[in-house]
Amino acid sequence: MSSSATREQNEPIVKARNVSKTYSTGDHTVDALRGVNLDIYAGEFMAIVGPSGNGKSTLLNCLSGIDTIDSGNVYVDGLDIHALSDRKRTAHRAKRMGFVFQSFNLIPVLSAVENVELPLLAAAVKPGEARKRATEILEKVDLADRANHRPGELSGGQQQRVAIARALVSDPAVIWADEPTGNLDSSTAASVVDLFADLHKFGQTVVIVTHDPSLGDRADRIVEVLDGRVASDGSDSSKGEQRDPSGVQTGAETES
Ligand SMILES: Nc1ncnc2c1ncn2[C@@H]1O[C@H](COP(=O)(O)OP(=O)(O)O)[C@@H](O)[C@H]1O
Ligand SMILES: [Mg+2]
Repeated sequence: MSSSATREQNEPIVKARNVSKTYSTGDHTVDALRGVNLDIYAGEFMAIVGPSGNGKSTLLNCLSGIDTIDSGNVYVDGLDIHALSDRKRTAHRAKRMGFVFQSFNLIPVLSAVENVELPLLAAAVKPGEARKRATEILEKVDLADRANHRPGELSGGQQQRVAIARALVSDPAVIWADEPTGNLDSSTAASVVDLFADLHKFGQTVVIVTHDPSLGDRADRIVEVLDGRVASDGSDSSKGEQRDPSGVQTGAETES
């Protein structure tokens, strides 16, 4: 299913309206987001790009419900997540969102499969079922043979694939990744980029903050954030011409 066809038919999964966020530290304030409007549709592979310090991580955190906002609204599946209590927003996030960070954030004393099953156990899935699902997801990211290794026994790329498996295991509506290749050498980064592209191919909605041109190039929509605002929003220019005005993707590179 192409994202643009979905765009014609459906409400966005995530709908941000006039979202603003100010950080105050002592007598210093930073307007990190200044009235952001953004819609994210099912099946999209979106890259959020822009120079450091311009609000990309803040945008990801505010749209996914990790962080609070000062004004505006963020609707996820039509639900105004910042109108929820902290507890309810956290529960909603756990159920609907998956996260991947630059620094992997794996628990060092747990094996790969134990890291991956953790969100399921936290959601009260029975241990046997959690182990089964975690094992299946590790197979999907090509790490079945590393299931019992701890993070310290894995390469950076393998650790990031464990983190991606952990993000996937709850079948999230959106996977949010903040500079996921930032700690990886270029060939390892390429394999992680391939993995995100595969997930997208199988219908996963993926939103990635990145400086990595090889990652940005693979996305089908690039949102540039400058000074707390969306400065541009469009398909990758090399792919943009493959979409006709009806919103149906055409062109050799796109899957049907
Ligand atoms: N927790 C925080 N406290 C104070 N200022 C912050 C905090 N997080 C981010 N900022 C500031 O908000 C702005 C946007 O930051 P960020 O969203 O991290 O940018 P990016 O991800 O594009 O590098 C920057 O000026 C940054 O210093
Ligand atoms: Mg950042």
